[in-house]
Amino acid sequence: MQLENDLYAIDKTLLVKAGQVINRNTLKRIAALSGDHIDQPIKDTWLMKDLIETFQDQRYTNILYPPEVNQHVIRCISHLKIPEKIFLELAFMKEKSPATYHHILVIAILAAKISLDQSIKCVFATDMAIILSLFHDLGKSRIPDSILDKKTPLTLQERKMLSTHPLIGYILLHYYFGNSHHQFDFSSYQHHERLDGSGYPLGIKKINKYSQLIGVVDTLDALISDRPYRSRPYSLRAAIDFLLDEAEKGKFNKNLVRTLIIYSRRATPGAKIVIGEKGRDKEPEKNSYGKTVKS
Ligand SMILES: [Fe+2]
Ligand SMILES: [Fe+2]
Repeated sequence: MQLENDLYAIDKTLLVKAGQVINRNTLKRIAALSGDHIDQPIKDTWLMKDLIETFQDQRYTNILYPPEVNQHVIRCISHLKIPEKIFLELAFMKEKSPATYHHILVIAILAAKISLDQSIKCVFATDMAIILSLFHDLGKSRIPDSILDKKTPLTLQERKMLSTHPLIGYILLHYYFGNSHHQFDFSSYQHHERLDGSGYPLGIKKINKYSQLIGVVDTLDALISDRPYRSRPYSLRAAIDFLLDEAEKGKFNKNLVRTLIIYSRRATPGAKIVIGEKGRDKEPEKNSYGKTVKS
């Protein structure tokens, strides 16, 4: 594994040089560079304010319901602490790519909401769901804007560079958490892996449950968000249909996708979930999500 550019931490420490081979020893060295990290409470910060505002996102009116659950999520967030340097990373992301920053906050509250759902067989701790979601795309802040904001399909080279963001986040988290990195860095490294092995960067099939959770809500948000490379976002219905198709192909945990279907249909609580071809919504025209061109 290698990166095309030098990678610096937010405090300007050089972590990896361009072209340097990244292996276990490299990561061990980076974890050892980290001094004691200072944790800062999220309560009463700009991050807390932004997270609360995220509940107003109209695209998720159906899913972020009922209000009591939202209040519960807010209470959980207000008890959390994250390393000071990750606050700086998130501030940097907010400045560089407001859309990615908003996306990160959306993933945190959606993952928290699902973690509180008693009907899911898989048990998630809400604080971990929130924290790991906040960390999952840290690596994107090191991807050039020309790639993040590109209006046309990415070239293979650009796709390759974008695909390094899980690795970049993984390295950063080794630095920010030092020897306790194990509890946190997988959220970055595995969130684009898929259960059938079709994901990246490793193509593994055994994925941590939190990464599975983040992967599902991450894909939902990617589909229903404005993106420079398509004329309009997917409707919530089309996005849910897409996720269900992918779950049926073995890429996503079906339980998690079904939970989102139930939330998205809260107008008819208790309705039997039958997904027919009829009435399915279509993907937007000129959609280049996940597509590449040769040069
Ligand atoms: Fe990502
Ligand atoms: Fe993401």
